[in-house]
Amino acid sequence: MAAATENLDEAVEISDGIFWVGTGSKSFLNRNSYLRLFNGGSQNAAMLMDPGPTSDFDTVVAKVVSAAGDIAKVNMLFVNHQDPDVVGSLPLLAKLNPHALFLASEDTWRLVSLNGLQGRDFRPVERFRNMRISLPSGHRLKFIPTPFCHFRGACMVYDLESRILFTGDLFGGIAASGLWADATNWAGIKAFHQLYMPSNDAIRLAVRRIRALDPQPIMLAPQHGGLIQGDLIGDFLDRMEQLQVGLDIIISLNDKLPALIAALNEIIAAVRAVLGEEPTRTVMGYFQPDGSYPAFFALSKEGTVMDIKGDAMESVESLIRAFFRHADVPQKSILKARILRMLLDHNLPPFDMLLEQEGGVAVELLEEVREE
Ligand SMILES: [Fe+2]
Ligand SMILES: [Fe+2]
Repeated sequence: MAAATENLDEAVEISDGIFWVGTGSKSFLNRNSYLRLFNGGSQNAAMLMDPGPTSDFDTVVAKVVSAAGDIAKVNMLFVNHQDPDVVGSLPLLAKLNPHALFLASEDTWRLVSLNGLQGRDFRPVERFRNMRISLPSGHRLKFIPTPFCHFRGACMVYDLESRILFTGDLFGGIAASGLWADATNWAGIKAFHQLYMPSNDAIRLAVRRIRALDPQPIMLAPQHGGLIQGDLIGDFLDRMEQLQVGLDIIISLNDKLPALIAALNEIIAAVRAVLGEEPTRTVMGYFQPDGSYPAFFALSKEGTVMDIKGDAMESVESLIRAFFRHADVPQKSILKARILRMLLDHNLPPFDMLLEQEGGVAVELLEEVREE
């Protein structure tokens, strides 16, 4: 198997005839695109999966050309779902490859085709018998829907020869370093799923479908983060099955007051360490009954939070925003990363505002998230 030191500025052959042609390896959320060459038999073919956003087009095409010889050889384009980070460059690729066959679920294509792709040669994967296809080269692919992971029409591709399962956003992670996942990648996978996956029910259904595959995959290749192989597959499937995400977290938040209060007191301690005693005290003062904000919190004499009286999410968000108004850009960046980590540690939602990227937050997050 390939070593951990590949040059990610170039295409990387991850299995015989299968190339990683992704981008953004040094960014917070990288994009993994994959090229599958089907050589042999009566006719060669090449399928590009999840080609990525418009901004990645040049890089992905250069990598595809280096692996396939010519972009014109790509005659199949598959997309897991319709997000811009998956399909942005599809209209450009469609221009370069006017005869390419598009493959996706019907739900996905209904939206993707609105990017000027109506009338293109499209085959809904649901129409293939048993959702499998055999290519003239003898290679076989199986399509496996993962409804609501995270889009209703999301669909994985299982390459039966290589036993690589292309999972789309499922098993995707933030803050990955390098091509291959190790145990430390779980923190970034967890954070990504808590944010983007709607519910544990959706995840369980997908995990069940993965466990039912015969033969079992030897590699999970997601659209973000590291590629997962070996014992990590079983380990991450087990963890994924238990993971509370999206609505699970939001709905249960008011039932999770002790965890939220514990996290809040850690957050306040972190703010005190970064901003100093005075600004922290000033902001906490806003939330006293005579302050300028609603008295969302019951505070002890020492200033620790004893209870949250308002809507849990609204209260915590308004406190964090008030702290941020007293922070300069570097302080805000440090605090965002620390607060995100604390919330995740308590299985609390990583509020969207903490992931708004500015300044050095991506680097901070990368370090914090991987520390777990
Ligand atoms: Fe997505
Ligand atoms: Fe994605």
